[in-house]
Amino acid sequence: MCGIVAAVSSRDILPVLIEGLKRLEYRGYDSAGVATLTRGSPVRRVRAVGKVAALQAAISADPFVGTIGIAHTRWATHGVPSERNAHPHVSQDGIALVHNGIIENHDALRAELLQSGYVFTSETDTEVIAHRIHQHLLVTRDLLAAVQLTVRELHGAYALAVLTEAEPDTLVVARSGCPVVIGLSDGENFVASDVSALLPVTKQFMYLDEGDVAAVHKNSVVIYDSAGKPVLRKTHQSALSAESAEKGDYAHYMLKEIHEQPRAIAQTLEERVVGARLLEAAFGPGAIEMLQRTEAVQIVACGTSWHAGSVARYFIEQVCRLPCWIDIASEFRYRDPVVPKNTLFVTISQSGETADTLAALRLAKSAGYLASLAICNVPESSLVRESDLVMLTRAGPEIGVASTKAFTTQLAALNMLVIALGKQRGAIDQTRERHLVERLIEIPRLVEETLKLEPVIRELAKRFVDKRHALFLGRGALSPIAMEGALKLKEITYIHAEAYAAGELKHGPLALVDADMPVVTVAPNNDLLEKLKSNLQEVRARGGELYVFADPESGIVESDGVTVIQMPKHVSYFQAPIVYTIPLQLLAYHVAVMRDTDVDQPRNLAKSVTVE
Ligand code: G6P
Repeated sequence: MCGIVAAVSSRDILPVLIEGLKRLEYRGYDSAGVATLTRGSPVRRVRAVGKVAALQAAISADPFVGTIGIAHTRWATHGVPSERNAHPHVSQDGIALVHNGIIENHDALRAELLQSGYVFTSETDTEVIAHRIHQHLLVTRDLLAAVQLTVRELHGAYALAVLTEAEPDTLVVARSGCPVVIGLSDGENFVASDVSALLPVTKQFMYLDEGDVAAVHKNSVVIYDSAGKPVLRKTHQSALSAESAEKGDYAHYMLKEIHEQPRAIAQTLEERVVGARLLEAAFGPGAIEMLQRTEAVQIVACGTSWHAGSVARYFIEQVCRLPCWIDIASEFRYRDPVVPKNTLFVTISQSGETADTLAALRLAKSAGYLASLAICNVPESSLVRESDLVMLTRAGPEIGVASTKAFTTQLAALNMLVIALGKQRGAIDQTRERHLVERLIEIPRLVEETLKLEPVIRELAKRFVDKRHALFLGRGALSPIAMEGALKLKEITYIHAEAYAAGELKHGPLALVDADMPVVTVAPNNDLLEKLKSNLQEVRARGGELYVFADPESGIVESDGVTVIQMPKHVSYFQAPIVYTIPLQLLAYHVAVMRDTDVDQPRNLAKSVTVE
């Protein structure tokens, strides 16, 4: 996590750095800092605990300018959130550096540096990098060479931006395991953790590859690969507008993103379903052959993306008749998986930079999988670049830490995967394909209709505001949706919420049910409805308060202690996971607003987890 921004120009770049940091706050927000330099003056550094606004206030109290600068917003890993531990970190002779990632051998490096007489002022793993660069600079007298020598000694993950008073026109940046993008402009160049930080100043971007180190000047960018050889990296034109990452008239990004879902899902389906047919080529060149050869599927993801994969597992088994396993990436990467022949390895990630998911993909590459497929929302992410096949979700930038539109577009993409696999494996004929594709195309409208429940859900939220716990129940492909609902509630309201496959209730959680325990249930009209109704009786019999999001034809009626919220009619099996997610997102959102929590940036969390 952590976000970095840097700039080199002939104008004052402080406003660009601050705006960039604000746009990267989703990556971490426990402290922030900036260091700037102008030829002939020493490095100016300001750091503050808290969000970028606190840094801005500190700068306004004692304003300064700079033509070159680096900035950072932090999500603490090594050392508490404090001014001392905030970046930039400095070394002697005016070296300043910002870092995203984790240096695993920092203890050993620190011991050596202490012996050489360096003094440490923070508990971070980052400070060793600054001193090591200084040590090399004493010999090389060249910042680029000093950084190249230093990164060879680092184990772990890093995105770095470094400056020194001795070279007041040079920024050196490096990447291994954490994203770095270079923004190009006329007479000035920029660096950031992702493009959204730089959209107000440029649309032209270059992405560093793993192991690259670059020297960035206002009129040039020279990139070297891990062997130190100069390399050219492609320039991309971003189609995103600066406003796409702004919240407009909405009170929070999360609310805006919830309401963007009909469009985001429609965009994800666009050009991929034509008439009532799915174009498998949408998964990339060679996809058809890979899908034909697939005999099993292994899915790996984290957090909300893992919930999306957990839904897909039901469909891959039921519709495609293929074995399918789903794992949390942080667990998968340390297992020693036995890989059945012709198993397709699928990763799901909003950011495409989640450290555990990337590590799992890298492990999979040597473990004998058939091919890797990434379902991802960020086209230039590491996950996309390192996978054989790709399906991009087209949700647009998601800023709210609690994932919403990224999740439902992942579900839509996974539905397409199910159809494609089913077709290629001969489990789906043309008529069934047509039927499933028609259901897919209806989803944006059904989501639109469900969003109209917002006033009802806002009222309902009042009943959750003072609760300390909540249970969420679902069955079949809807049980991961119950988990997603519980995750949303706990992430942003800090109410303890748990989800269970409803059949599991009597094996433990029922002991917790009393009049103080709201039990939220998703109940579409499917073949598990009658089973679910029995589970609801079990709750009612213990005095539990039930809130049921139900199909109007489910036959579940309101009564004392049972609140029924009518969902759109005739939501099919294939549509229900997406449609029933919407009210749970809205519920979490409105409870959070009433509890006055930080909806978009909940405490202790970050949007993009680029550390293990
Ligand atoms: C963090 C985010 C979640 C996200 C998870 C996985 O925990 O807060 O919203 O689901 O990471 O991230 P990814 O980018 O891989 O989907």
